[in-house]
Amino acid sequence: MISTKSGQKIFVTGGAGYIGSHTCVELLNAGFDVTVYDNFCNSQPEALVRVQRIAGKSLQVVHGDLRNLTELTQALKNSGATAVIHFAGLKAVGESVEKPLLYYDNNVVGTVRLLEAMAQCKVKTLVFSSSATVYGAPQQLPIPESHPLSATNPYGKTKLVIEDMLRDLFQSDSSWHIGILRYFNPVGAHSSGQIGEDPQGTPNNLLPFVAQVAIGRREFVNVWGNDYNTPDGTGVRDYIHVVDLAIGHVKAVQMLGEQAQCVALNLGTGNGYSVMEMIKAFEAASAKPVAYRVGPRRTGDIASCYAQPDLALQLLGWRAERGLPAMCEDAWRWQQKNPMGYAAAGSVMEPH
Ligand code: NAD
Ligand code: WQD
Repeated sequence: MISTKSGQKIFVTGGAGYIGSHTCVELLNAGFDVTVYDNFCNSQPEALVRVQRIAGKSLQVVHGDLRNLTELTQALKNSGATAVIHFAGLKAVGESVEKPLLYYDNNVVGTVRLLEAMAQCKVKTLVFSSSATVYGAPQQLPIPESHPLSATNPYGKTKLVIEDMLRDLFQSDSSWHIGILRYFNPVGAHSSGQIGEDPQGTPNNLLPFVAQVAIGRREFVNVWGNDYNTPDGTGVRDYIHVVDLAIGHVKAVQMLGEQAQCVALNLGTGNGYSVMEMIKAFEAASAKPVAYRVGPRRTGDIASCYAQPDLALQLLGWRAERGLPAMCEDAWRWQQKNPMGYAAAGSVMEPH
């Protein structure tokens, strides 16, 4: 039986972001002490104000950049953490094609700095945010962790390089405890409607776009292609509720503490839903019509992608519990309560 030692401290890079903020809530709920290290390049301090409100507990916030080794090492040391969950990174596929060096610098160099800081502080337990994007175009479905790895854009390549780097690190020093979590398509929000996904500008991902159409911020959803080899011709993905994903991180950090290893795990539901099924499910959850227009395929898209999630069940005792209605209802509650995301929020917490 895996348990949390009361007050065990976790250092969370990128903890103010979409997945990080939900994970902080679950970490606090599970009895961990949390220090967030974030440069707020794609998030708002307000998210962390709300995390603390939801959990009814406080956390530490350090405003800093991963690539600043001195500040990072100091923050990690001061936190007293025994484990790191590493979310910080840039994630926009299109931007990574336009600015590859920014992505290699932020994601890869940033992770090198983090591993150096961890080694200096003798903290050797790490949970890393990888992505199903490392499977490239799937050769088999559902996708097991043993599927060959490849990447077609700089964002995906940074995830692959980091995964390889972590495997090399473990090879050189088998006292590390490393969990590589490959997320499928995170969606939804905390059931309170207080925290959720807050994309800047036009959303790249399907569900936030659908939610903005339902609330009236955008006119219609562009459905990128309906001529794929899928049941209704639109792309099929494994959408996973962000709270399920967050709970997976708590289980991973608990499990990793037990044994030195370097293991990659899929975090997905194992179910695939099409773009049209997502639009219909969102209409049902919101009781709003969601207009759409079918356009051409989006460059780089694949027909179908869904996880074989059994290894996470076996090793972590974790499986996704929340279904498609909850994903859409919770995304809608967040969207309704925060039609402009965190931007309009009044309270601001000063990070130190
Ligand atoms: P997000 O952009 O909401 O959160 C990332 C956080 O990292 C932000 O708060 C940002 O300010 C911070 N950050 C970025 N670069 C930093 C740096 N150099 N120093 C300090 N802080 C920095 O993204 P998210 O959706 O929460 O994703 C978290 C992680 O999961 C990322 O690594 C992402 O690549 C990965 N991932 C996300 C998805 C997805 O669809 N959301 C899917 C698979 C993997
Ligand atoms: C889902 C489906 C689109 C938007 C991306 C990244 C991946 C990972 C998760 C980080 C596809 C269709 C979308 C729209 C549409 N992120 N779609 N109209 O492409 O599976 O994965 O986010 O690691 O790396 O590539 O997610 O939400 O963009 O698309 O028709 O306006 O919705 O074609 O079939 P994707 P998505």
